[in-house]
Amino acid sequence: MKHLTIIDHPLIKRDLTIIRNYKTDNHLFRTTLRRISSIMAFTVTHDLRLKKTHVQTPLERTAGHVLGEDIVIVPVLRAGLGLIDGFLDVLPEARVGHVGLYRNEKTLEPVDYYSKFPEGLGRSLVLLLDPMLATGGSATAAVTFLKRRGARRIRFVGIVAAPEGVRKLASHHPDVAIFSAALDRKLNARGYILPGLGDAGDRMFGTEK
Ligand code: PRP
Ligand code: URA
Repeated sequence: MKHLTIIDHPLIKRDLTIIRNYKTDNHLFRTTLRRISSIMAFTVTHDLRLKKTHVQTPLERTAGHVLGEDIVIVPVLRAGLGLIDGFLDVLPEARVGHVGLYRNEKTLEPVDYYSKFPEGLGRSLVLLLDPMLATGGSATAAVTFLKRRGARRIRFVGIVAAPEGVRKLASHHPDVAIFSAALDRKLNARGYILPGLGDAGDRMFGTEK
């Protein structure tokens, strides 16, 4: 899967085990998701451009750097909200857009209900965040949305991906690099990832039925 980068790190493997565990409560699920996303942010941004600057230390003036490009992070509501704080912890300069999508439980097709983006998407590196890439319908629709609004450089960041979702996103948007903490086995008949972690939004917000 040439569009997919699995971020392989011992701390991520430990945290994945915590969020997969059905006994993990909503609070631990959210704090662990935040920590994983912070760790992932290092790899996702490894090639960011820098601009040279100078900084005055208490002793003398020396060379330094600031980020040389605008970054917009876009969580897919609801579950993508679980990844933004981890990214903002290490990218405080980033601006945040939102796209609201949910899957119709019968058709598995994404239904959009909200979007709001900062200006200048076209000159920004856009990091689209959603922990789950299952059928790929939501991520594909979110990227299409972003492109219609002018985004040109988009990276998708998830936690658990199914092969079906990676194939769909890569075939519709081959220019989008996909980062994930894990590539799982497959989808079940209801479109849930196996082994997966269940419904990420419900586990974050305590809305499981
Ligand atoms: C989940 C998840 C993704 C989507 C993935 O959202 O956060 O957005 O499903 O599935 P797909 O790849 O098959 O489209 P959900 O529809 O459960 O909405 P929620 O985050 O509001 O719970
Ligand atoms: N959405 C989720 O939250 N989990 C899945 O396994 C599939 C879609």
